[in-house]
Amino acid sequence: MLRTARTSRLLGRAQFSRHASGTVGVVGLGLMGHGIAQTAAEKGFDVVAVETEQRFLDGGMKRIDDSVRKLAAKAVSKGKLTQEQADANVAGALGRITPTLDRGAFASCDFVVEAVIEDIGLKKPLYEDLGRICKPDCVIASNTSSLAIGKMAAFCGKPAQMVGLHFFNPVQLMQLVEVVRTEQTSAEIFKKAMGFATDLGKTPIECIDTPGFVVNRLLVPYLIESIQLVERGVASAADVDTAMRLGAGHPMGPIQLADYIGLDTCHSIIAGWAKEYPTDPSFRVAESLAAKVAEGKLGRKSGEGFYKWDGDRLAK
Ligand code: 3HC
Repeated sequence: MLRTARTSRLLGRAQFSRHASGTVGVVGLGLMGHGIAQTAAEKGFDVVAVETEQRFLDGGMKRIDDSVRKLAAKAVSKGKLTQEQADANVAGALGRITPTLDRGAFASCDFVVEAVIEDIGLKKPLYEDLGRICKPDCVIASNTSSLAIGKMAAFCGKPAQMVGLHFFNPVQLMQLVEVVRTEQTSAEIFKKAMGFATDLGKTPIECIDTPGFVVNRLLVPYLIESIQLVERGVASAADVDTAMRLGAGHPMGPIQLADYIGLDTCHSIIAGWAKEYPTDPSFRVAESLAAKVAEGKLGRKSGEGFYKWDGDRLAK
């Protein structure tokens, strides 16, 4: 059972020393947002986690609870922490997160990271609110995978405060954060954003505001090409995946990875780019990807995509 936010905060404050300071707001507690909120809390930040409906808040907090406990149990089994220390870490991290439906809570934040779905119609009013609510020295960041940071900066009306902070899935385990600047991002805000990524225990890289930044610009066309290899009958999905794991040393093959990320996410990124940059040959929608999404076979999140899934793992 999750504790109430207030009890948890008191518990967390009373028992544990802090590593980092400041308040982090996270908008959206889905696949990426819950991981960002969790990581910030684990590193000692106070976190306000904001959703639009109670059921999304509860779902996100349940994910965080499961993940924090899993990581703690692993640390104990590896002898890195005693059970007592692990329990303390779990209580500390959960205690620093305040779930709320009130966007007004962002007024006290030093950093706000938006991780809502990639729907510009939803993002516009959200950024208008952030522009009104956030402090003048708050870093306003989007975790978007594919939309221009400049667009969000214009919506919020505080372009000097706006950066991209692009995390990778699963946020709890992946080391990289791409820190994205627009021409209007102030040097001070950018430096603060780089420091924040480091304080989260991540390795930041700097890049400018272009489609896909660095990783997705390379990764998404590679995933699509892999799916198209299967469509052309070059090899089976399983063999393409084995090839890239054993031949190129990747931790996951590309088709498994597309399922892992979410086929709807992969499709929405590539379809958006194909529409915006119709002459770029690396932005093409794979037919079988579109078909899976239309069937509701979204990969890991729906239990089936190119593979069948049992939770976070491929079904046996
Ligand atoms: N919280 C806590 N524990 C977690 C977790 C989470 N969120 N996710 C996985 N774990 C645990 C697993 O349950 C497992 O625990 P166990 O050993 O006790 O069962 C442990 O972490 C390690 O998992 P695996 O055994 O599956 O081991 P791996 O060594 O394969 O690591 C992986 C998993 C880190 C996901 C690795 O397979 C990997 O790096 N895959 C590629 C991921 C990748 O490329 N991500 C980027 C996607 S692109 C993106 O995010 C950008 C976006 O904009 C599209």
